[in-house]
Amino acid sequence: MKQDLIVILDLGSTQNTVIAREIRDLGVYSEIHPHDITAEELKAFDNVRGIILNGGENRIVDGKPVEIREEIYELGLPMLSIDYPQSKCEEQFNELPGEKALKKFIFEMCGAEANWTMKNFIEDQVELIRQQVGDKKVLLALSGGVDSSVVAAMLIKAIGQQLVCVHVNHGLMRKNESESVVKVFRDELHANLIYVDASERFLGKLENVADPEQKRKIIGGEFIRVFEEEARKLEGIDFLGQGTIYPDIIESGTKTAKMVKSHHNVGGLPEDLKFELVEPLKQLFKDEVRACGVELGLPHDMVYRQPFPGPGLGVRCLGAITRDRLEAVRESDAILREEFAKAGLDKKVWQYFTVVPDFKSVGMKNNARVFEYMVIIRAINTIDAMTASVEKVDWDVLETITNRILSEVENVNRVCYDMSPKPPATIEFE
Ligand code: XMP
Repeated sequence: MKQDLIVILDLGSTQNTVIAREIRDLGVYSEIHPHDITAEELKAFDNVRGIILNGGENRIVDGKPVEIREEIYELGLPMLSIDYPQSKCEEQFNELPGEKALKKFIFEMCGAEANWTMKNFIEDQVELIRQQVGDKKVLLALSGGVDSSVVAAMLIKAIGQQLVCVHVNHGLMRKNESESVVKVFRDELHANLIYVDASERFLGKLENVADPEQKRKIIGGEFIRVFEEEARKLEGIDFLGQGTIYPDIIESGTKTAKMVKSHHNVGGLPEDLKFELVEPLKQLFKDEVRACGVELGLPHDMVYRQPFPGPGLGVRCLGAITRDRLEAVRESDAILREEFAKAGLDKKVWQYFTVVPDFKSVGMKNNARVFEYMVIIRAINTIDAMTASVEKVDWDVLETITNRILSEVENVNRVCYDMSPKPPATIEFE
């Protein structure tokens, strides 16, 4: 390990991540580990400089308070405890320590160095991946989203051609999205990439399916089947790369923390296709994943892209998906993104996209009555996607986008701007 480590032992506090973030912000690497970690396991890291115990109200599991192992106290490492009774630690606080106290503990008592940099992190991970994988092969589903792209770049750096990436185009990608995955990973980073165009297969399964949940189920299920089929064609794969990041782990619950939602990126692969996981980003927060991607040389657009739902444009082509409306969503989305980038709004607005409902309205084209579709523009800002407010987009920008959509996108005669915050609306339409 290139960097000093401060370990936070998880006793069920919801503040563990806050402390880990504060320590990392001070330039020192910090990880959260289960409360029952053994002294042996901690020693194996060989870079632990200090331990933090954070108690609090959730320190009870099955009616019993959670305790760390006695042997941890005998490691001779500086320990700080917060709200943890009968502790044998040198430093003991009743509440979260302020920056000054935290600095004193980390730098003076633990003697840690502020050497947490992305460069060091990548070097560490490359080393760990090589140790774990040896000369075996790793399979990775590369969607082109931030997390899978950064994992791919990291694995390429660590094991090169031992990585096999599979990119499944489900036909619901944005304009040029699959092409750009192929260009960046196959042409520029020389990855071993299998490109599967499954558009027809997905669109066939989705025909006449109007229920949003059913659409999501079909897309998710079909994705796993296509990926499984590809995995079966390959031989000698022992590992599965995964873009698990730190919030995924927290939200899935730890031994002490309550489960927020199930984390099922791997979900669905059959028993006989179980691989050992390689998850080099599992300790990173989202902004750190982006910084890691930049350090690994990925294009800025790929690393700083807005969130995009797994089911893709499928949930923005409302109701039963038809090819003409899907095309209208894809083309209008491309125009919106282009014009937002020109106006500098791509750096300011959290998420922006277009939606095409499954009904027509009357209009006039070439002096004749026409019944055509409507494009709805949505641009929202949020911190955590739980609530969201609408971006006050400049009228001229909206007019330019509207005019372009009306003249360039087929089968569309009307453009609307969605003014609804979340709640009561949600960010997506279905
Ligand atoms: P809502 O519509 O619930 O969206 O306000 C909140 C955020 O989640 C994204 N979203 C999804 N992401 N699979 C995903 O990976 C999905 O099925 C899905 N549905 C919504 C949405 O784009 C927004 O950022």
